[in-house]
Amino acid sequence: MKQDIYGCDVTLANENALQAWNKTLHGFLAHSASTGITLGETLEFKPEFALAHSCKGLFSLLLGRKELNEVATEAFAAAKASDKQNPVSERERHFINALGAWLEGSLRKAILEMESVLAKWPHDALAMKLSHAIMFMLGDSHGMRNLLENLTEAYFGHTAEGYFNGCYAFTLEETGEYIKAEKQGRRALELAPDDAWGLHAIAHIFDMTGRAKEGLEWIDGKQAAWQHCNNFRYHVWWHIALMHLDLGNYDKVLELYDEDIRKDKTDDYRDISNATSVLLRLEFEGVDVGDRWQELSDLSAARTDDNCVAFADLHYMMAFCGNFDEKPATQPLQNMQSAETGHHNELASIIHKPGVLAATGLEAFRDQNFALAHDCLSKARPTLQEIGGSHAQRDVFERLAIESALRGGLTTQAKSLLQERDLHRGYKDSYSESRWRAIKSGSRSGAPQIAGVAAKNIA
Ligand SMILES: [Fe+2]
Repeated sequence: MKQDIYGCDVTLANENALQAWNKTLHGFLAHSASTGITLGETLEFKPEFALAHSCKGLFSLLLGRKELNEVATEAFAAAKASDKQNPVSERERHFINALGAWLEGSLRKAILEMESVLAKWPHDALAMKLSHAIMFMLGDSHGMRNLLENLTEAYFGHTAEGYFNGCYAFTLEETGEYIKAEKQGRRALELAPDDAWGLHAIAHIFDMTGRAKEGLEWIDGKQAAWQHCNNFRYHVWWHIALMHLDLGNYDKVLELYDEDIRKDKTDDYRDISNATSVLLRLEFEGVDVGDRWQELSDLSAARTDDNCVAFADLHYMMAFCGNFDEKPATQPLQNMQSAETGHHNELASIIHKPGVLAATGLEAFRDQNFALAHDCLSKARPTLQEIGGSHAQRDVFERLAIESALRGGLTTQAKSLLQERDLHRGYKDSYSESRWRAIKSGSRSGAPQIAGVAAKNIA
C-alpha cells in the first residue's frame, strides 16, 4: 500500500492521484487556495477514493453554508459506495464515520472519530488539523490544546512539524499562555514559512498582550506566509487592521478594509465576520464608516436561513443592525429562535443558546435599548465561547456589552465588564483605557467623538 506525505497508508495505487492528494493535504494544513482544486484533481484521477470524498464532505461542512450540506451528503454517499466496492482501511473509515456523525448533527462524535485515528496513527496530520478545525468551531480551546499536547512527541521531525506548531501556538494563545505560544508560533514559521495559521497565531498574541506597534513591525514583509491562502488571507489583514485600530490609525483601518479585507465582496461567513466586526469597532470609536454596511447587509440577506453556525448567524445579524435594516434583522432572529426545532443537532443548540441571546442583544443595541442589550449580552457571555472563533473575534461582543452598559448608564456593570476584560488580557488596550476615562469623567461613551451613523443613533 502507498503512503501519503505524512507516512499514512492510503488506498491509492494511482501515482497521479497520490500526488494530487499530497498537495491537498499540504494545502489544507497551509490554508492554501489550491486545496479545493487539488482535491478535485485527486477525485478525477481516482473517483472511488473514499477518503477524498470524506474530506470533500468535511471541508464543505467547515464552510458553514446551508447549500453545502447537500454537497456533504452526496460526498458521504460516494464515500460509502466506494467503501462497499473497495473496502477502505480502518483509518480511512474513521473519516467516513466522522462525516456521517457531523451530518447527523454531532461534531463531538466527529471529533471522537478523529481522536480514534490519532490514538493509532498520531502522525496523521490530516486528522490532527481536522480535529483542530472542528474544535475551533465549538470554541473548545482547551480541547484543542489537550489534543495537541498528547501528540507532541509524534511531531518532532515530522513533515508537518511547522503546521503542528502553528496549531499548538494558537491553542496556547487561546488558553492564555502567551510566552510559550509566541515561541511555538515563531518556530512554526521557521519550519513552514507558508504557515499562515501559525503567523496568525502570533498576530493574536500581539493583540492579547497589547503590542500592536511591535506586531505591525513584525508582520511587515511576511506576506509570503499568507498570500497563497484562500479567504483566510482576509482574516490576516483583519488582524493587521485591529493593530492599527488599537493605535488609533482609523484612516489606515478603513484603507485596509477597502483594499484588502473587503477587496473581494464575498459572502463567506468568515469574511462577513471580519468586515462587520471591524466596522462596529470603528463606530464604537466614533468613526463614520459611510455606506460600507450596505453591501454586507445585502449579502447577509441571502443567508438568513442558513442556521448552520451561530457565529455566522450573529455576524449576518450584525450586518443588518449596523445598516439599521428593520425587516431583515427580525427575520434572522426568528430563524435562529426556531433553529433547534428544525435541526436536532449540537450547532443548532448553540444557535439557540447563547446565539439568540446575543442576537437579541445586538438588535436591542441597534434600537438603543441599552439596558436590554446589556442584559442579553451579559446573559450570553458565560457560554459565548461555544459560538466558536477566537477571543479576538468574540471581543466585539465584549465591547458591545461594555458599550451597552456605558450608554445605558449602567456604570457598575460597565466597570465589572472592563475589569474582567482587562484581567483576561493582562493589560489595558486603548479601547479599555478610553472607556475607563469615560467612566471617570461620567461620560456615557468612551469614544473620543461620535460621528456618522453611530452619532445619529446615540441619544
Ligand atoms: Fe484570528
